[in-house]
Amino acid sequence: GNNGKGGKFAFTPIAPVDASVDAFNVPEGFDWSPIIRWGDPIFADAPDFNFAQQSPAAQAGQFGYNNDYTEILRQPNGKKGLLICNHEYVNPQIMFPAAAASPAEAAERRAIFRNAVGMSVVELERDKKGQPWSYIRGGKLNRRITVDTEFELTGPLAGSDFVKTLADPAGTKVFGTLGNCAGGTTPWGTILSGEENFNGFFRTNGTSVEDRRYGLGNSATGMGWEQEDPRFDARGEDYRNEPNRFGYIVEIDPENPNSTPKKHTSLGRFKHEGANVIIADNGKVVAYSGDDERFDYLYKFVSKNKYKKNNKAHNMTLLQEGDLYVAQFAGNSAAEIDGSGSVPADGAFDGSGSWLPLVVGGKSAIAGMSVQEVLVYTRLAADKAGATKMDRCEDVQPSLQTGKVYVACTNNTKRGLPGQAAADESNPRSENRDGHVVEITEKRNDATATSFSWNLLMLCGDPAKNTEAYFSGFPASQVSPISCPDNLAFDTQGNLWISTDGAPSVIGYNDGLFKVGLEGKNRGNVQQFASMPRDAETCGPVIHDDESLVFVAVQHPGEDGSYGANTSFFPDYVAQGTTPAPGQVRAPRPSVVQIFPKS
Ligand code: FEO
Ligand code: CA
Ligand code: CA
Ligand code: CA
Repeated sequence: GNNGKGGKFAFTPIAPVDASVDAFNVPEGFDWSPIIRWGDPIFADAPDFNFAQQSPAAQAGQFGYNNDYTEILRQPNGKKGLLICNHEYVNPQIMFPAAAASPAEAAERRAIFRNAVGMSVVELERDKKGQPWSYIRGGKLNRRITVDTEFELTGPLAGSDFVKTLADPAGTKVFGTLGNCAGGTTPWGTILSGEENFNGFFRTNGTSVEDRRYGLGNSATGMGWEQEDPRFDARGEDYRNEPNRFGYIVEIDPENPNSTPKKHTSLGRFKHEGANVIIADNGKVVAYSGDDERFDYLYKFVSKNKYKKNNKAHNMTLLQEGDLYVAQFAGNSAAEIDGSGSVPADGAFDGSGSWLPLVVGGKSAIAGMSVQEVLVYTRLAADKAGATKMDRCEDVQPSLQTGKVYVACTNNTKRGLPGQAAADESNPRSENRDGHVVEITEKRNDATATSFSWNLLMLCGDPAKNTEAYFSGFPASQVSPISCPDNLAFDTQGNLWISTDGAPSVIGYNDGLFKVGLEGKNRGNVQQFASMPRDAETCGPVIHDDESLVFVAVQHPGEDGSYGANTSFFPDYVAQGTTPAPGQVRAPRPSVVQIFPKS
C-alpha cells in the first residue's frame, strides 16, 4: 500500500470490500461510531425510536431518513458543535418489520415518510476538541424541517404567476423541500441544500414540453402523497404550479431555529445536486451547481451585490439577485476522441470553455424567454443557449485554497448510444459507467469570469480491469479502485475527498470514501479511507483532518433488501438470536458516522 501523506493526518488505504459484504471498514488504527441514526429523538419530548411502533408525530421529532449532505460546524472552544443534514428520500420496504396490513396503515406510513424527509439540525457536544461527538437530545438549536415547514420564495419568481396556487395565491410561500441531495456551507454560516429529484413526488398532466423536460408525468407517484395532499396532484388548475415551487437551492440559517428558510429562484430550477459558494476577488459571491441528469448541465450564479464580512443579514440576501450562466466546454483534441476514453495524443483531456449567459443584469439572455421563464424552465433555456451535455454533474465544489472548481460526473450509461450525444473530450467515454472528475480553472482565476480552461483530473474505474482508468498520469497500478464519484470535500491540506454512489454494480466493490492528491507528484493518487455497508451510498463527507476526524452520512444501507429480508444490519449489527439493546434494531438505519483514531 501507499502511505497517505497529508500533514498529521496520514493513513494506510484500506482494501476495497466486495459488494456482498455487510461491514463498515476504516483504516488500521481508526475506529468508528454513529453520532446519530434514523429515528433517534432530537427533541426532549420525542420518543425513543421503536422500529415496530412508529408514528408520524414520533418521526417529526426524530432524525430523518437517508441522510445525505452533512455539515458539522464547530464553536471556537471545540466543545460544542452543530450537525446539519439533508434527508433525501425514504426506502419504505425496509423501514418496517412487515408490509402495511391495511389501507389505513399504508396512509399512516405515508404521513411518517412526509416527516422523514427534509432536513435536521442537531446540537453536538464533547468534553474537549479532537474527541468524537455526541448529539444533544433537546438542544436549543435542534430543528426538523419536513414537508410541512414554511419556506419563502426569493428572487424573480417570487410572486409570479408561475408559482401561484390555490393555497398560496400570492406565490411567495412554499411548504416543504423535497429530494434534498447535496449542499454547501456558505462563508456566512448558512447551509445550502439542493432540491434534486423533486419530479417524482408530483403527478401532472405530463403533456407540456416543460413537464416532459423535467420528467414530470401522469402516473401515480411512488410515494402516493397525492392521495391525501391535493398539492401533489398537479393535474387540475388548483395546484398546476405546485411542481414549479420545487427544484431550487434552499438556504437555512442553522443558528436560528425559528427562521424561515428560503428558496432562491435566481439560481434557476433544475435537479440541483447542491451548490457551493466562493467569494470572488471583487467581493461578489459565486455559486456552482450541477443538474444531476444524464446529458444535463453545469451552472454558475454570480451575485449582484458583494459579501460583507460579519454582516450575516446582508449576506443572506446575496443569493436573491444576480446573473446565471451555463457551461459550454470545448476540447482541444476533438478529432482524437472516439468514445473509448483513451488519452488523446496531446496527453490530456483538456480544453477551454465559456459560461453562456442565461440571465445577466436582470435581463434574459435567451430569445423568446422572459427572466421568469428562464428561471422556472432553466433546462429549456440552457438547451437554447447551447450548453454542453454532461455525464450527470453531482457535487461541484471550488477549492477555497486554489479557486479551481471540481465537478463530479458520476456516470452516464447512455452516452454515445444511438440517438444520444456522442462522447466529447470533457465526457470522453461512451456508455460511461465509472464516471470522471473535471477540473476547471477560471480565466485569471477570477470566479466571476465568463471563460475558463479545464482538464480531467481522472477517469474513474478499477485499473486492474479497466485500462481506460486515468489519474492525471499517476500510476494506475498504485491507486484504490474508484467508481461513480458523487460528493466532494476538501481537507485543510487542499486534498480532494470523493465519496461514491453506485460502485457495487460497476466495479463490484462497496461504495466508499477516497482521498485524492491534487498537486505535484501526488496528483491523481486515490487512496480509499472508508468502505460502506451493503447497498449503502457514501454521503457527507466532512473532513476535519486538523482533528484527525472524518464524518460520513451512510445513506440507504440495505436498500436492496425487503421486509424481514435485510441485506444490512448497519450500524448496530444486532445478530439474530440476540436481544437488541434499547434503541437498537435488527434492521439497517441510515446514520451519520464519525471515524476517529483508536485511543
Ligand atoms: Fe441524489 Fe445526484 O445524487
Ligand atoms: Ca487534449
Ligand atoms: Ca448525490
Ligand atoms: Ca448519486
